Amino acid sequence: MSRPIALITGASSGIGAVYADRLAGRGYDLVLVARDLARLETSAKKLSEKHAIVATPLPADLGKPEDLQRVAKRIREDEAISFLVNSAGVAPSGSVLDASETDLDRLVFLGVDVLHTLTVAAAKAFSARGEGGIVNLASVVALMPERFNGSYAAAKSFVLTLTQSLASELDPKGVRIQAVLPGFTRTEIFERAGVDSSGIPAGMIMDAGHMVDAALAGFDMGEVVTIPSLGDDGLWSAFDQARHALAPHLSLDKPAPRYLPGVAAE
Ligand SMILES: NC(=O)c1ccc[n+]([C@@H]2O[C@H](COP(=O)([O-])OP(=O)(O)OC[C@H]3O[C@@H](n4cnc5c(N)ncnc54)[C@H](OP(=O)(O)O)[C@@H]3O)[C@@H](O)[C@H]2O)c1
Repeated sequence: MSRPIALITGASSGIGAVYADRLAGRGYDLVLVARDLARLETSAKKLSEKHAIVATPLPADLGKPEDLQRVAKRIREDEAISFLVNSAGVAPSGSVLDASETDLDRLVFLGVDVLHTLTVAAAKAFSARGEGGIVNLASVVALMPERFNGSYAAAKSFVLTLTQSLASELDPKGVRIQAVLPGFTRTEIFERAGVDSSGIPAGMIMDAGHMVDAALAGFDMGEVVTIPSLGDDGLWSAFDQARHALAPHLSLDKPAPRYLPGVAAE
């Protein structure tokens, strides 16, 4: 019996590298995607030996449309791939007004377009096969956009919304999808963005291993949205219920009376 394959983007570092280790521990062979081939090869060798699985580097600069299409094609055509982790990403160097437009465009392309293309490719391929799992790395800033760079926060809101919508479509097809919303997590992401993370209180930064283990526990529980830090899950339920309570009021034939009282009274 051949093993199922997990394809992980951003597998050369941080959260993606931890997912590679944990999914190999769960018996998956791996396809490891990132730009840095040397790091992918080192990691593939280590994980193959540690877990007695097959790990294959798939070097790609996902910021290049031709590389992105090559990875999407692999997801569509390799029938052994049944798990996708979208972890490739970059952090902003500061606020929107302080960042270069080119950097922000790159961040949004990687966080939105790339994740969208790979998620849709996997959603279609996995539903045709009747099984599979997709994990999308969002962020808690999707819920707190006022507190972070708006381009990054908006990209992570896209990830959350796409995942929540697809979950209802994929569930009847036997495919699971999850958005993971980490807070600060100890990885290279800050250093790579040229950001000094020394000012972040230690009590607000989670170890990447703990973050991924908690996220996988949430996946196993069937959660569509997992916030690894959140102790009181009733807070999320209340937030989600408040959102659903808006539903009957969001699309009506008349404007609200506070905007156009005359029309509302007609
Ligand atoms: N760390 C946090 O505090 C935190 C919090 C919330 C959410 N997240 C999210 O979690 C995800 C992983 O972040 P991390 O903290 O693990 O960051 P990281 O350690 O910097 O890893 C980022 C990964 O993305 C890859 N990558 C970057 N640009 C790429 C490109 N153009 N093509 C292909 N791969 C590319 C990098 O590999 P190469 O350089 O080899 O290409 C690396 O493997 C991101 O989506 C991030 O937004 C992180």
